[in-house]
Amino acid sequence: MRRLQSRSKSLYLLMIVVAVVYMLYVTYVNFIHDPQAAEFLSHKTGVKRPVVVPVWLNVMYVHIVFACLAMIAGAINFSTKILSKHRKLHRVNGYVYLLSVAVVVLTSGYMAPYSTGGKINSIAFNVMNLIFMGLTVAAIVQIKRKQVDSHRKWMVRSYAFCFTNLFIHMFTFVFHNGFGIEYALSYTLGVYGALVLNFALAEFVIRFIYTRPAAIMPTGNKKNKVIA
Ligand code: HEM
Repeated sequence: MRRLQSRSKSLYLLMIVVAVVYMLYVTYVNFIHDPQAAEFLSHKTGVKRPVVVPVWLNVMYVHIVFACLAMIAGAINFSTKILSKHRKLHRVNGYVYLLSVAVVVLTSGYMAPYSTGGKINSIAFNVMNLIFMGLTVAAIVQIKRKQVDSHRKWMVRSYAFCFTNLFIHMFTFVFHNGFGIEYALSYTLGVYGALVLNFALAEFVIRFIYTRPAAIMPTGNKKNKVIA
């Protein structure tokens, strides 16, 4: 039991470190180092619809800001301390997460038709949009029904999608720089790889980390009700 708790704490800390470092990196690259996204846009060869760069850039900025907000709000809400001691903060922050996911999905919907690598990635991004929103709404529905464990599981599945961009770049880097595969194909492998990894990571956390029921009562529940 103790080992499981400390494993869960270490994993939570690791997740926070990865999220913070990644957010700093994304902010630096996209707002300071290359605010015109010249490097990223240079790979958009063979895209059927021409990118209207000023509009695309503004949408991307909004996308990044809300993506970071979703990462922060989600990370805070997985803290058991905050959940047990500041229930209202958890609830308000949960709605911040929901709103941020909605904006990420909407902005992603705008950018998807112009995806690097073309139609095959546009489809993948649109599928991801549906899944990401669906998982998040499922988590909210579960807590409205006072199903704490189920809510936590769906939130884990939803939150894994906050790491999509990190995984895409990780896979793309390995395939392109490591194996010398052409950029567009590496990016496609990255997009599909990220989709699979999102699900796999979430299931790993659910099966091996969150193995016990959450020791938390939903608000408005009768005092002695046991949550299984
Ligand atoms: C929550 C964490 C996320 C961050 C930090 C993030 C960040 C970014 C950034 C910086 C870009 C610009 C291009 C690049 O450098 O990759 C981008 C593009 C994009 N993102 Fe996200 N994103 C996140 C999540 C998502 C999710 C969950 C989806 C889909 C459901 C998504 C869909 C897209 C699409 C479609 C593009 C355009 C890709 C292209 O033009 O090829 N993003 N994102």
